[in-house]
Amino acid sequence: MRIEEHPILDFKRGREIYFYYNGKKIRAYEGETIAAALHATGVKVLSKSLKLERQRGFFCGIGKCSSCLMKVDGVPNVRTCITLVKDGMVVEDNDMELPEKEYPRCKFEKMECDIAIVGGGPAGLSAAIEASQYADVLIIDENHQLGGQLIKQTHKFFGSKKQRAGTRGIEIAKILEEEARKNCRVLLNTSVIGYYDRGYHFLAAVNRVDGIIYEIKAKKIIFATGAQENMLVFEGNDLPGVYGAGGVQTLMNVYGVKPGEKGIIIGAGNVGLILAYQLLQAGMEVACIVEALPKIGGYFVHAAKVRRCGIPIYTSHSIKEAYGNGSVEGAIIAKLDENWKFIEGSEKDIKCDFICLAVGLTPAIRLIAQTGATISFINEAGGWIALHNEYMETTKEGIYVAGDLANIEEASTAMIEGRIAGLHAVHTIKQIPNFEEKIREYMEELEIFRQG
Ligand code: FES
Repeated sequence: MRIEEHPILDFKRGREIYFYYNGKKIRAYEGETIAAALHATGVKVLSKSLKLERQRGFFCGIGKCSSCLMKVDGVPNVRTCITLVKDGMVVEDNDMELPEKEYPRCKFEKMECDIAIVGGGPAGLSAAIEASQYADVLIIDENHQLGGQLIKQTHKFFGSKKQRAGTRGIEIAKILEEEARKNCRVLLNTSVIGYYDRGYHFLAAVNRVDGIIYEIKAKKIIFATGAQENMLVFEGNDLPGVYGAGGVQTLMNVYGVKPGEKGIIIGAGNVGLILAYQLLQAGMEVACIVEALPKIGGYFVHAAKVRRCGIPIYTSHSIKEAYGNGSVEGAIIAKLDENWKFIEGSEKDIKCDFICLAVGLTPAIRLIAQTGATISFINEAGGWIALHNEYMETTKEGIYVAGDLANIEEASTAMIEGRIAGLHAVHTIKQIPNFEEKIREYMEELEIFRQG
């Protein structure tokens, strides 16, 4: 299941190592996650549902859905999609038993900074680059590398030159990381688990590798925690082999592992269209793209590329059922009428071994909701979001949002929002020369990009 050749990506695998999965010795490479290593050997079932014990597989691939929880070296409920595999590691099915072994008391470490940034994706890194020109910045990210979802985007970006149009997402991630690391402190593998208002802004964060609990005091906090992929309701939607589109991109473009051999994609927005092309590049087959709307939602240029590759796009269709014994073996799709009801007799049985859901994102608000900032449901923004002003500051003084957490858009807008949030957050601590001019420039850029 490993991708050996790719026209764009060169998978530099780390040292060969071995770990144990339910007593079986498995080969892996340093630098890949447990879930990726298991997929590479064909293991798709990673956990079971609590009540009915239905088998579950990897879905989001970025630590946001909990479908990959396993017991690792005796510790239950480890998110194996964001935990790196180690030589000699023991991975088992989660049995929900509390571990017997004694854990040493955690080490606590206190940290202080002007600006804490939660999330090191395009928005968080852009905020960090801007703010660190004038202030002391700390970036906290629960992944083992910075870049957020850019690290799996092999396509070239559109938009303005300033927002790096014509550059691949994977390259943008490297550029942003390099710039941010010049002046910022970075905590990786570190999950922020709580926000507390102590008369000042306080975060509790835990490093999942060495167990250190950080107590972080910050003058301002920018939350750039991104979004999670939407699920769709249909029979068999929890079968291993039903993935979020981003989860598949992580598996194939970051770790060089195939989700299967032949897939279908639900959703013909930009993500679904780009994913179809990326699957072909990585040597897989795409049986079709299925879109519930009467027309394709993504850019014409992406749709044309997909069509040239001979992939059928069924508009006014949706998925009725995923079937298979233990993992996906096929899907039933059918045509929708104008009331979004399936038209009897229009079913098609598509043989495939994986299904990608590219049906939108929901802002990941669980952490920001702890701050007391006003949260409101705005459908056009992607659902529940923290209300914010034009400087990206929420209703809670000193708490900012940027990127998909603020509203579901694109990486290019996320980067501009990050810049605005970073600049304004610092300006409320100390005067920035030409602040008005700089911020107006970013706001105009954002406006132009959105109009485009
Ligand atoms: S949390 Fe690991 S697959 Fe979603």
